Amino acid sequence: MKEDKPDPASPGYLRCRAEELLNRKKIRDVQKMTEQDVRAMAYELQVHQIELEMQNEELKRSQRELEESRNKYLELYEFSPVGYFTLDKQGAILDVNLPGAAILGIERGALAGRRFQLFVEMDCRPDFNAFCNRVFELDSKQTCELRLLKNDAAPCHAYLEGVALCDGEGNAKQCQAAVVDITAKKRAEEEESRLKEQLFHAQNLASVGKLAGGVAHNFNNLLMVVLGYASLLLSELKEGDPHREYARKIIRSSQLAAGLTQDLLAFGRKKPINLQPVDVNKIIKDSEGILAKLLRENIGLRTTFTGKDCFVMADSDEILHVLMNLATNARDAMPNGGELKICTDVVRMDDAFIKAHGFGEIGEYVLVSFSDTGVGMSGEVKSRIFEPFFTTKEVGKGTGLGLASVYGNVKQHGGYMDVHSVPGKGTTFNIYLPLITQGISAAKAETVTTPKMGMETVLLAEDEDDVRGIMKIALERNGYKVIEAVDGVDAVDKFVKNKDKINLLFFDVVMPRKSGKEAYDAIQKIKSDIKVCFMTGYNDDVVREMDIVNEGLDYVLKPVSPARLLEKVREALDKWEG
Ligand SMILES: Nc1ncnc2c1ncn2[C@@H]1O[C@H](COP(=O)(O)OP(=O)(O)OP(=O)(O)O)[C@@H](O)[C@H]1O
Ligand SMILES: [Mg+2]
Repeated sequence: MKEDKPDPASPGYLRCRAEELLNRKKIRDVQKMTEQDVRAMAYELQVHQIELEMQNEELKRSQRELEESRNKYLELYEFSPVGYFTLDKQGAILDVNLPGAAILGIERGALAGRRFQLFVEMDCRPDFNAFCNRVFELDSKQTCELRLLKNDAAPCHAYLEGVALCDGEGNAKQCQAAVVDITAKKRAEEEESRLKEQLFHAQNLASVGKLAGGVAHNFNNLLMVVLGYASLLLSELKEGDPHREYARKIIRSSQLAAGLTQDLLAFGRKKPINLQPVDVNKIIKDSEGILAKLLRENIGLRTTFTGKDCFVMADSDEILHVLMNLATNARDAMPNGGELKICTDVVRMDDAFIKAHGFGEIGEYVLVSFSDTGVGMSGEVKSRIFEPFFTTKEVGKGTGLGLASVYGNVKQHGGYMDVHSVPGKGTTFNIYLPLITQGISAAKAETVTTPKMGMETVLLAEDEDDVRGIMKIALERNGYKVIEAVDGVDAVDKFVKNKDKINLLFFDVVMPRKSGKEAYDAIQKIKSDIKVCFMTGYNDDVVREMDIVNEGLDYVLKPVSPARLLEKVREALDKWEG
């Protein structure tokens, strides 16, 4: 029969063991002890007992402290913001705290014994193996950054710090790795570098725009002279004169050059624009016919309009220019056919939008999206499309000014644009124009065709001799009398001398000594109802700065062809006559 072994946890166990040991020892026979011996022994026993009780107390206290410190350690271990993994030499997980398991998105119980490598993205595994080797071979802390595969498939960037845990003989047996989820930090860094790049790109475009705008502005004046004289020449040459063809060629080339100049001015945000409250939905509806003509038969055009009001302050000619450019590009991107979708919507740019897109200002915007199902573009092409003269089209097919002018145009309207494109999948351009809710007037009155001839006297102030010369000729040939002034001060002097004769002031805005507006203000003090029309080749901001638009004053944009000049002069003279 098997003898029952006493349970070590039972209260009498220690006593039994002690008696057993006592019996085995050769102890003195108590019967033979003197009374004095017994007393001395009893005293010894009492002292021992007290000593034992004190030791017991001390032991209990240490046990309590140990317990508390263990709890504290566990709390720190389990609730630390850092994941802790204990790995063996093969990378198997021996222990992991709760945050560590959370980083991998897996329950702790399911991790024991699994290899950490399995949670490392394939292309980062060599880095992780090298990290482990360093930890076990070198006697110092090692670090590395990895991308981890999370259970929920969300990408996770992690920072690892590892040290070796050694056995009693100093041999590295385990790796203790602290793992920090740095995904948010990485995203913020990526976002910051994206925003920096966007800012750099925008600044770059702005400075190239300034240069292009400046060149185009000067070029504009020269073109005006070429165009004007060529037109005069043509009108003076008799039918059948072979030189007429030369003049026509000069006019055609100058007109093409003027088109390019206009694009460059638009890119440089220096194209004078005439802002009016306009309904974007209406502009697109009205242009559908023109846009459909631009596209080939194998390209479908689909429009979707929001039911909300889409009023913006814009120059409808410029908006049409934008639409036509984008449609032309979409057509060229769909050589085998496809679909172009134009949608409108009203969206709000808030902080979240601005943060996500890296552009914008808080407010409501009309959004026009242009999506094609064409060839799309690579990241490299996408990053350069707004640069002037950037084109992927063959020589002679594209100037690369289309999107540059669209970009400048949108910016000049206080708007924003961005592009999304996937090679082979198509492209979407989004244009955001600030929505207006006030000052939405009814459709503008129809323009009346005005006769061009006249007999009135025009005070013509323009500092460029050639430009002034050609304008004078054009006016005089149509019956007008012209008094010339070379700048603002000269204009005021000439007016004082001829004030009863002069019917109209035709002033350039930017002139030396006195601007056109300053000269007009001075003259108005002499004759308050004097009629005026300004001429500007400069940015609309300058015009507005000078209160010309605000005061409802008339102006015409350079280059002014002789026909346009005559039309404008007639219109200005007739304007206030009831
Ligand atoms: N919808 C689109 N799909 C694919 N690529 C596009 C699209 N729109 C523009 N691109 C790319 O951007 C480049 C620049 O366009 P942009 O309109 O400025 O010039 P272009 O069309 O080449 O010439 P231009 O408009 O002056 O005749 C194009 O050459 C093309 O590579
Ligand atoms: Mg184009």
